[in-house]
Amino acid sequence: MERRRIAILGSTGSVGTQALDVIARFPDRFEVVGLCAGRGEDLIAQARAFSTRFVAVKDEGRVAAIRAQLPGVEVRGGPGAAEWLASLPEVDYVLSAISGGDGMRPTAAAVECGKVVGLANKESVVLAGEWMAARSRATGATILPIDSEHSAIFQCLTGERRENVRRLLLTASGGPFWSKPKQALEEATPEAALRHPNWSMGKKITIDSATLMNKALEVMEARWLFDLPPSQISVVVHPQSVVHSMVEFHDGAVMAQLGVSDMRGPIAYALGWPDRLPLDIPRLDLPARAQLTFAEPDGDRFPALGLAYRALERGGTAPAALSGADEACVAAFLDRRLSLPGISRIVGQVLEAHAPVAVDSVDAAWAASEWGRRKAEEFIVEAGA
Ligand SMILES: NC(=O)c1ccc[n+]([C@@H]2O[C@H](COP(=O)([O-])OP(=O)(O)OC[C@H]3O[C@@H](n4cnc5c(N)ncnc54)[C@H](OP(=O)(O)O)[C@@H]3O)[C@@H](O)[C@H]2O)c1
Repeated sequence: MERRRIAILGSTGSVGTQALDVIARFPDRFEVVGLCAGRGEDLIAQARAFSTRFVAVKDEGRVAAIRAQLPGVEVRGGPGAAEWLASLPEVDYVLSAISGGDGMRPTAAAVECGKVVGLANKESVVLAGEWMAARSRATGATILPIDSEHSAIFQCLTGERRENVRRLLLTASGGPFWSKPKQALEEATPEAALRHPNWSMGKKITIDSATLMNKALEVMEARWLFDLPPSQISVVVHPQSVVHSMVEFHDGAVMAQLGVSDMRGPIAYALGWPDRLPLDIPRLDLPARAQLTFAEPDGDRFPALGLAYRALERGGTAPAALSGADEACVAAFLDRRLSLPGISRIVGQVLEAHAPVAVDSVDAAWAASEWGRRKAEEFIVEAGA
């Protein structure tokens, strides 16, 4: 069997390090050809451990030091470095796990080259989903979801006809404030919001989970990954995060994918697909779980979810503007310049102020996301004045 030649974008992050953990267990199946990170504190150690040939780093100032430490490795930095890595002919598989909208261009580069893309960076699809889907069809690129919900849906849809699907049911843990009153949300500190009950993840996605904005992004991601209208995508709150998501079919059957809350499961599925890797991680012990509960999302305390449907209804660049606004708001919340509920309030304002245009290029998506970020900053300053 030929080894899959992999580039990991965002290799020092939560998904990136877990992907390397999986890959290290299967040296006969995978070769890590390239690594990419922002500042990349751990890049050198990772590159040595996996004998990688290529390294990309966003921070140009780090290039000289990395080159000095990694003789024989081709190192590039600054704008375009991640795209360069994602496009290399030596790479067949790009694992896209940069955080935020910065992940879009490298994902797009991989899609343009017709590569297999393991997609954790949901923002790529939120910003430019329609474009990514069209370009994947044209170039023969394959996008395999890594988000646990979308991986679950992808697994439930395997062997099924799309026209038999009634709806997708994305599960949401509800985050750390699901059972808390509205007032507690107003008073939530970054420290409390960063304590996710079930998953250990990067800061941005953890705050998004506390507002349910993460689920909003996932609804938009599902829209384009599975090519279904928003009316066929719903969300159910499931605090135990055992059912990773479900698909309901026209005959009433509901298929679910279950597992422990360990991202190495969906990462391994996307890496090994269409095979399943014999992965040694904790197993699901259903009797020990005793109870699995489900509830409707509460749109009053968690208005973020409604914003996803509003953005999809507005169409074009509206989801990109939402995503950019959310990035600015999450940063402001972590800086204690905005309350937790303030995130959805400001994102909603930005969404209504946006005049969507068609996403006919990644540039159009990026421009809308940057606009959303700037507009959110304006609203945050106004609200604080
Ligand atoms: N964590 C999870 O369990 C999980 C689950 C589902 C989906 N996702 C999605 O996966 C993506 C990554 O999430 P994460 O939690 O792994 O994030 P994270 O822990 O914050 O890691 C982000 C990674 O991206 C790198 N990076 C950031 N900006 C970059 C840039 N402009 N160019 C190159 N590299 C850059 C970072 O490098 P430095 O560390 O050097 O800055 C780091 O390696 C997000 O889109 C998230 O929504 C994550």
